[in-house]
Amino acid sequence: MNPLIELSGVKKVFGSGAAAVHAFGPVDQAIAEGEFVSLLGPSGCGKSTLMLMIAGLLEPSEGRITLAGREVTGPQTDIGIMFQDNTLVPWRTVRGNVELQLEMRGIQPASRKEAVDAILRSVHLEDFAERFPYELSGGMQQRAAFCQAMIHGPQTMLLDEPLGKLDAMTRERIRSDLQSLWMQERPTVIFVTHSIEEAIQLSTRVAVITPRPGTIDTVIPIDLPFPRDFDVKNSPEFVGYVRDTQEIFRGYGVI
Ligand SMILES: Nc1ncnc2c1ncn2[C@@H]1O[C@H](COP(=O)(O)OP(=O)(O)O)[C@@H](O)[C@H]1O
Ligand SMILES: [Mg+2]
Repeated sequence: MNPLIELSGVKKVFGSGAAAVHAFGPVDQAIAEGEFVSLLGPSGCGKSTLMLMIAGLLEPSEGRITLAGREVTGPQTDIGIMFQDNTLVPWRTVRGNVELQLEMRGIQPASRKEAVDAILRSVHLEDFAERFPYELSGGMQQRAAFCQAMIHGPQTMLLDEPLGKLDAMTRERIRSDLQSLWMQERPTVIFVTHSIEEAIQLSTRVAVITPRPGTIDTVIPIDLPFPRDFDVKNSPEFVGYVRDTQEIFRGYGVI
C-alpha cells in the first residue's frame, strides 16, 4: 500500500521551558488514498494541531509529514480545508465566495461559472447563489463553506469539526451529503469530530486519540457497507462499534 498521508514521529510542543505545552504526539500513522479517517478524541487533545500540521500551517516540533510522497514544509494549496468557523467573506455572495478560490488559481470566468453552479447544486444551494452569507442559515453557510473548500477538486480534504455548531437535524443532512460526495469522488478525507456515532457512520477507519498529549491509541476499521444511512445506527454491528469506542474513552476517564 502506498500511503497518501504519512506521519512519522510527529510531535508538537507549544512554547518552551516551564510554560511548554506538549499538545500532540509522537504519532506514526499512514493513511491510504481514498480513505475516510476520523480523528475522534476529547477537546484539547491536539486534533486541530495535527490538522494544521498536515496542512503545512504549523510546523511539527519533531518528526515529519509527507503528502503524496513529498514532505510538508509549508502551506499546501492542493488540499481542501474546512474548520468549525467558516471562512466566508461577508461582502461576497455565495457564488462570489466559492468563485474566489478559482479566481486565486487563475481560472477563467467562463469556466468558473459552470464549476460553481455544479458544486452548489450538489449541496442543494443553487437557489442561494446570489445571496450573501448573512442571509443563510448556519447549515447553509457550512454548505457554502464546503463548496469553497472543495471547488478546486482537491484529492485531500481536512475537515476540522465542520458540523460542530449545527443543530442535530441539519448535521444529519449534511453528514449524508458529505458521504455521497465522498462516495462519488473518493477524495482522501481526515475528519475531526467528538461524536462517536458520526465518526463510525462516516469512516472507513476511526482513529481514537488519547487525552493531551494526544496520541493515536487505537485505529478501528469500520466494516459496514456504504452508503450508511440513518437506519444503520440501529444495526447490532453499529451499536457494537459504539460500545467498543465508548469503552476506550471510559478507560481514559473521559466519559
Ligand atoms: N498556538 C498555541 N499556543 C499554545 N498552545 C496551544 C496553541 N494551539 C493549541 N494549543 C494547546 O494545545 C492543546 C491542543 O489544542 P488543539 O489542537 O486545539 O486541541 P483539539 O483540537 O483536540 O481540541 C491544547 O492544550 C491547547 O491549549
Ligand atoms: Mg480543535
